[in-house]
Amino acid sequence: MIFKTRTHTCGELRETNIGESVVLNGWVDTRRDLGGVIFIELRDRYGITQIVFEPGFNEETHNAAKELRNEFVISVEGIVRKRPPETDNPSLATGHVDVMANKLSILNEAKTPPFPVKENIDTSEDIRLKYRYLDLRRPSLQKNLLMRHRMYQIVRKYFDKNNFVEVETPVLMKSTPEGARDYLVPSRLHKGKFYALPQSPQTYKQLLMVAGFDRYFQIVKCFRDEDLRADRQPEFTQIDVEMSFIDQENIFETVEGLMKILFKEIWNKELKLPITRLTFEEAMERYGSDKPDLRFDLPMVALNEVFHNTSFKVFKEQIENGGIITGLTAPGCGDYTRNQLDVLTDFVKKLGAGGLIWMRVKDNELEAPIAKFLTDAEKKNLTVKLDSKPGDLIFILSGPRLKALSIMGALRLEMAKRLELIKPDSDPQLLWVTDFPLFEWDEQTKRFYAMHHPFTSPRIEDIPLMDSDPRKVKARAYDLVLNGNEIAGGSIRIHNSDLQAKMFKVLGISEEEAEFKFGFLMNAFKYGAPPHGGIAFGFDRMTMIFTGENSIREVIAFPKTASAMSLMDDSPSAVDEAQLTELHIRIRK
Ligand code: AMO
Repeated sequence: MIFKTRTHTCGELRETNIGESVVLNGWVDTRRDLGGVIFIELRDRYGITQIVFEPGFNEETHNAAKELRNEFVISVEGIVRKRPPETDNPSLATGHVDVMANKLSILNEAKTPPFPVKENIDTSEDIRLKYRYLDLRRPSLQKNLLMRHRMYQIVRKYFDKNNFVEVETPVLMKSTPEGARDYLVPSRLHKGKFYALPQSPQTYKQLLMVAGFDRYFQIVKCFRDEDLRADRQPEFTQIDVEMSFIDQENIFETVEGLMKILFKEIWNKELKLPITRLTFEEAMERYGSDKPDLRFDLPMVALNEVFHNTSFKVFKEQIENGGIITGLTAPGCGDYTRNQLDVLTDFVKKLGAGGLIWMRVKDNELEAPIAKFLTDAEKKNLTVKLDSKPGDLIFILSGPRLKALSIMGALRLEMAKRLELIKPDSDPQLLWVTDFPLFEWDEQTKRFYAMHHPFTSPRIEDIPLMDSDPRKVKARAYDLVLNGNEIAGGSIRIHNSDLQAKMFKVLGISEEEAEFKFGFLMNAFKYGAPPHGGIAFGFDRMTMIFTGENSIREVIAFPKTASAMSLMDDSPSAVDEAQLTELHIRIRK
């Protein structure tokens, strides 16, 4: 169809254009027929302009406008006019003018959309995802994707300026363990063999360091078949970074430089550098999380010292077994009802706690079921350590260290929610968490796993402990946390094939398996690998936080559901028998 292409976008006209003849193209956002006059709000990515169809101005066009419905695609020609004072709309950038239409072409009709293309709709997310192209017309999603676009540009510009080279790495690769399940792609040419989609380009970026690229970055899709949540997608985007001849401080400096620019350009906020650092142990002990939300304090306190001589059996046993007693003061919650306390007890029990100890702080005493088991000195020390005042409520949990701390950490977040400690205008809080343990023990499989990934270097001074006491080995690994979300993680790498082999050994990976899976990497390390390290940002998570959303699906154009489905194109879906045959695959009934 031949139509007049636009002279202006729908966000462009101002009072300076009054009197001009213009052509606008776009979608009908709203239509009001006031008997004599028809008003259309015409929408495109840039904004909204009011179009007026008046029979006295052009009768034929006014008649044609009666056909218009929401989401019709049209081209309008008309004259820009100052809006009559009573229809002035200062909340719109174009709100002081409108366009008196004298020509209308309907470029495409539209069925009635399944939900209004508007803000604040209460349509289910499934319907929004099925008609994502309509959902994406809504201003909030347009805004999110435009901000995401700006963030890509800032990131590329920053790394380019700092001498990083953007290199693409394969999407069909050999499986690398990053802790999740792989997505596999069967090979047609090599019967019974599979590619894996990258969980991250980890091995490739290390090989690029061996190849001498010195500084690499890539904005890259990663694929992980894991349980999904609001901040996890099966395919997600990383800003992947690797550097040679550096130590942890160089990585921190590079990352902080980028964050400073993003804070300024996206939020117009000054990020004070250097940012806070907490070791993993400190973060766990004080906040019960390796990604603490520091927008509120509400600290947890280890109470082992207070109870080191206690005769209260529960605490005594935990201390003897190397466990922890951790406490938290909920300010002003001393009047919580039994019912409220039961709800919180259930909350921690669901997370695996045996129970929850609570105490109401009164003027000169602690009112609690366990009070009679504690000495006066213990009660006094307890309140001093926890900085609790009359009217407060104290929670205490005891158990194996990481388990008890994590559960208290979850209770801390729950209390922050109940006490509304996170205000919408709270300053964003960014921090590094460092000195993670290198290994994690898994009780079920009775073996160690790499807490970060198997290419992470131990602290040099801890290498001897890899044989004698792997649990004590600390990693040269770090996470970047923003408002309680892990937005990036990385490490200094092992760059020596012997140390890498030792690492695989502690992880229970046999020499043959290591050779089969990572022979190429260990081999590369024998040809002059520089010391190197890096980090990867979860770009979707970062964008989610910068846009103020609560789910990464709101910043991804075509996301999957929590069950990894794309409702719009209905994938995953069945394929032809012929395709399967070609791939040497038979589906078991
Ligand atoms: P890691 O596994 O910590 O490190 O991933 C880096 C960051 O990616 C984000 N992320 C995710 N975002 C959305 N959906 C997911 N399923 C998902 N999984 C992870 C997180 C995380 O901090 N190769 C290493 C990096 C390195 O060592 O340099 C890696 O991938 O924000």
